[in-house]
Amino acid sequence: MIRFDVNSDLSDQETTLKQMMQEHTEMLAEAQAGEEKYKDSQDWLDTDIEAGEEQLLRIERKAQEIRRNADAFVLIGIGGSNNAARAVVEALKPLNGCEIIYAGNTLHPHEVEKMLQKLAGKDFYIDCIAKNFETLEPGAAFRVLRQYMDERYGDKAPERIIATGTPGSTLWQLCQEQGYDFFEFPVNVGGRYTAMTNVGLLPMAVAGVDVRALVKGAHDMQLQLHKEPAETNSAYRYACLRNLFYQNGYRVEMLSSFDPRFHYFYLWWRQLFAESEGKDNKGIFPVTGEFTEELHSIGQFIQDGSPIMFETFLDVLNEQDHVVIKPDSRKDYFDYLNGKDFAEINKAAFHATVKAHSEKLPVMTFTLDKLDAYHFGQLFYFFQFACYLSCKLMGVNPFDQPGVEAYKHWMFAALGKL
Ligand code: PA5
Repeated sequence: MIRFDVNSDLSDQETTLKQMMQEHTEMLAEAQAGEEKYKDSQDWLDTDIEAGEEQLLRIERKAQEIRRNADAFVLIGIGGSNNAARAVVEALKPLNGCEIIYAGNTLHPHEVEKMLQKLAGKDFYIDCIAKNFETLEPGAAFRVLRQYMDERYGDKAPERIIATGTPGSTLWQLCQEQGYDFFEFPVNVGGRYTAMTNVGLLPMAVAGVDVRALVKGAHDMQLQLHKEPAETNSAYRYACLRNLFYQNGYRVEMLSSFDPRFHYFYLWWRQLFAESEGKDNKGIFPVTGEFTEELHSIGQFIQDGSPIMFETFLDVLNEQDHVVIKPDSRKDYFDYLNGKDFAEINKAAFHATVKAHSEKLPVMTFTLDKLDAYHFGQLFYFFQFACYLSCKLMGVNPFDQPGVEAYKHWMFAALGKL
């Protein structure tokens, strides 16, 4: 379960918010039903389309094969092709699966070298995930890794190569010619909305994540957000609040947490909102805060600097880990911590920060019962749906990203690509 609260006093804006929520109810209805004009981007709206029983069985079977035959799995992909899997795998770090090694998300030679070094002495599979197999980073990494596999596995290499791409693409052709296993990258889902498809689920399953629980979390959230009316729909309320703050001049949203396990989830969230919303000279710039560490760096700006941002906290209610601080005979002036658990101390810092920040800027909180696969599923679906609504309210297309092409033109020209 995820609870949504507004922590700041917004009583002077209650009427405007209410009006906004009443005026745009048709947008919620459109999003709940799916829209004809976006039909080539909306298969994620119903988790049964890309994460139904048939897809889950194939994913689980392949994951079992990989776990039997390998210590490591190289996820080659960038942006929407790796962020969701990485967010869950690196947060939950399951003990029963393969090590996941990331490739195709950088062009820096040091990182490429380090990635290859990690494979030394390990048995591994690779999965090149790319919707548009023109993307430079995964394309370059896939070539390097295929050649490395030839050296390691000879004519058995193709048995350990998977590609996740669109049927008919150049990646698909390569699979046909070389006999690599092929998984479909859903044609009707853009990269950043693919957490609940082959793109996100196969690497997660290989890592040992309970993908059925994840999909169930997303599906339960889908049922809730598609059923709830405007007055009680938390995704709609969050989307309206974001737009209200935007209209009031706030240009930055900071997603913050006192749980470092959200580190890679932040990358996923930032991509989702930046690429979906930042266009036509509009958009709220998504940034993240990793507390308590960053209270000692950016905390000053948040509390006292330019009032450009509002803040959204992620809080996990039930901590699974506990470390109690014992008394110590050496005087260090920290005796007020005697007998206290780090979980309790961290929570005290969280509540204090929410209180202090909400006096200066608009603050909202999402509270999760716990951090597990089910709740990650809930978060993915919630933010995808809320982002879609927020883009509609802002008047931008949630599913394209024309702006990312500009630098590519010059880069490809410099590299001699025809
Ligand atoms: O959301 C998107 O569509 C993009 O950010 C892509 O995920 C990213 O550019 C990677 O694209 P591809 O899978 O084609 O390599």
